[in-house]
Amino acid sequence: MTQTHVFTHTQAKRYYDWMGAKLDTQSFYEAPPQRDLAAHLSLKTCRAIVEFGCGTARFAAELLSGEVPPKATYLGIDVSATMVDLSRKRLAKFGDRASVKQSDGTPHIDAPDGAFDRFICSYVLELLTEDEIQAVLAEAHRVLEPGGLLGITVLTSGPTTASGAVSTIWSALHRLSPWIVGGCRPIELRPRIPLDAWRIVYRNCLTPVVVPSEIVVAQRLP
Ligand SMILES: C[S@@+](CC[C@H](N)C(=O)[O-])C[C@H]1O[C@@H](n2cnc3c(N)ncnc32)[C@H](O)[C@@H]1O
Repeated sequence: MTQTHVFTHTQAKRYYDWMGAKLDTQSFYEAPPQRDLAAHLSLKTCRAIVEFGCGTARFAAELLSGEVPPKATYLGIDVSATMVDLSRKRLAKFGDRASVKQSDGTPHIDAPDGAFDRFICSYVLELLTEDEIQAVLAEAHRVLEPGGLLGITVLTSGPTTASGAVSTIWSALHRLSPWIVGGCRPIELRPRIPLDAWRIVYRNCLTPVVVPSEIVVAQRLP
């Protein structure tokens, strides 16, 4: 797959430190795919969730207020100090169940092998290089217990005329400058998931307000 110009970790941090709470204005196209993802993560039985690139923790707060069992824990990770601060404030009502850590932008998660049974990554992989995407998937495989579920949403190419036009324009803007689109470019998720490590258990494409998103749930193979 072609390498494209993407944000460095420093650029991603700078952009999302600036974006802060304004990120929640994107929920008009992110929330429906995230609800679809949540519905296919068997959250009623989860014990420990980790989210890579948690943003303002808008999605996390919905999960913890919903089907997630009251004893289940949540760890959010983000490269942006502003996002970490906003997330901690938003999740404070969940007490010790929820914690948020700032990362240095590398995929490494400071947790033992098999520490979690759900790994969520929503609208983050499309910011990363191909090597980083594979490194995040490898780290998800390490920190998930066997049988654990990986849940991802990404911006993707649109399957309809209108949503296809949106993704074509989005990609063109990203090529012009990643700063215009927050570093995100539409990508195809399924071909990037190594099938010797994951079994895809759910895949969908939704286009709320003609912005196309791919949703994938994959089970960690032993
Ligand atoms: C488009 S936002 C999505 C946020 C959130 N998941 C949501 O759906 O609202 C991308 C998030 O990923 C974070 N991010 C970008 N690059 C990252 C990296 N290398 N490591 C961790 N977080 C990163 C950004 O700071 C930002 O909060």
